[in-house]
Amino acid sequence: MERLDKAFSSCKIKSRTEIAKLIKSKKVTVNGTVIVDPSYKIDPKTDEVTLCGEKVEFKKYVYVMLNKPQGVISASEDGAQPTVIDILPNSFKREGLFPCGRLDKDTVGLVIITDDGISSHKRLSPKSHAEKVYYFETADPVFEETALEIEKGVLLKDGYITKPCKVELLSENSGNITLTEGKYHEIKRIFGAKGNKITYLKRISFAGIKLPETLNEGEARYLTPEEELLFTK
Ligand code: URA
Repeated sequence: MERLDKAFSSCKIKSRTEIAKLIKSKKVTVNGTVIVDPSYKIDPKTDEVTLCGEKVEFKKYVYVMLNKPQGVISASEDGAQPTVIDILPNSFKREGLFPCGRLDKDTVGLVIITDDGISSHKRLSPKSHAEKVYYFETADPVFEETALEIEKGVLLKDGYITKPCKVELLSENSGNITLTEGKYHEIKRIFGAKGNKITYLKRISFAGIKLPETLNEGEARYLTPEEELLFTK
């Protein structure tokens, strides 16, 4: 059993002072009852606690998926532009969160946000070969031959040859591409090298974790236990 205020502060959700104020202003419930005493004892593993009406997760690390909208930067902080951390709904916020990897400002879709640096580093390491699947649309048609060439590897302008990947064409101008590496602007540069242009890019899967069609842009949810295992394995 643990003090209610301590459970919040040890998971870096709120400081002891901040949460004491919120508890006294009746913003916290335990198993459906408003609690006004910060020293009230709870079992963080089994008791259901809410803050401002939202369920609280008392875990060492959290893993959140966000459907990133366009115009948002994949960083923790940016003086000028909104970041994926800025737009995260309040109930997910705690200290130390950062996005695992980067999507371009105009790319939408799956971003995993966590405070678990070790797992994030592992998933991003080239050794992990984590598959990243993107849905793309292009300005000009993509021919089967071009798709096959892209799959084998493409010589980019800077001399880098991309690793083999998978391309599944869905129409003349759209498809899914699966990469196991993540170079700067990689997909845009691959199609650029083939004389085409990406007009829409959405990450739909990362390391086996799929973006649900029901999660709208700007919405977030915690990873399920199965998805957490895929991320932390
Ligand atoms: N490749 C790109 O070009 N942009 C992204 O955001 C991700 C992969």
